[in-house]
Amino acid sequence: MAEKLLELKNVSKNYGTGENQVTALDTVDLTIDAGEYIAVMGPSGSGKSTLLSILGAMNPPSTGKMLVDDIDVYGLSSERQADFRREYLGFVFQQLQLIPYLSAIENVMLPLVVTDIADKRQRAESAMERLGLTGKFDRLPSQLSGGEQGRVAIARAVVNEPPLLLADEPTGSLDSRTTREILSLFSELHSDGQTIVMVTHHPDTITATDRLINIEDGRVVVAVGK
Ligand SMILES: Nc1ncnc2c1ncn2[C@@H]1O[C@H](COP(=O)(O)OP(=O)(O)OP(=O)(O)O)[C@@H](O)[C@H]1O
Ligand SMILES: [Mg+2]
Repeated sequence: MAEKLLELKNVSKNYGTGENQVTALDTVDLTIDAGEYIAVMGPSGSGKSTLLSILGAMNPPSTGKMLVDDIDVYGLSSERQADFRREYLGFVFQQLQLIPYLSAIENVMLPLVVTDIADKRQRAESAMERLGLTGKFDRLPSQLSGGEQGRVAIARAVVNEPPLLLADEPTGSLDSRTTREILSLFSELHSDGQTIVMVTHHPDTITATDRLINIEDGRVVVAVGK
């Protein structure tokens, strides 16, 4: 039996009030097992990013719970939620969000800044080497190709060895060759045991994933497992 990593129970999310209220997620139940690679698909505005930000402990649900080791994460103090994000999660954003005036390795080291890990630079170097960025440590993001910038964003997301890696359309701004390259890096991480939830529009992705979650109007309409 696979080990359960995280559970959403009866999660709904509304934005706005009164006539302007939008239900972005509607009574979603979801269990994620350790080591799973999950693709999230659905039309624009269906609630994919909302789902990811809730899984990322960045967006409290309107109703329902997120349980990790039977702890209700959104019931924790904001400080403990921040600890949880730091220790538990890596995030790759669509616009990558590299800091333009920091070198590649300084970007990768960012999640470690607030930790008491001693060998920060060494950790960042090994994450970058793992992602094929040897020799690119001291480049600014503007001196890297789109694919290399994607690799830096992934290295930054995994440098703290998070149990859960979340990625919201990480190839959204890349051409198709670079997209394939980045997706194969995610597959490699998955082969190494990384749990991944990725929002994607690329049908190819689902040949590599264990499960596809389809969202429409805030509801999980199909969850296809392998
Ligand atoms: N902070 C917010 N305030 C108000 N409404 C929001 C907010 N974030 C999202 N929404 C609304 O919630 C719904 C779901 O948005 P969400 O960003 O989760 O969709 P998505 O599936 O990620 O779309 P896309 O594929 O375009 O990125 C949309 O109707 C959106 O307008
Ligand atoms: Mg989105």
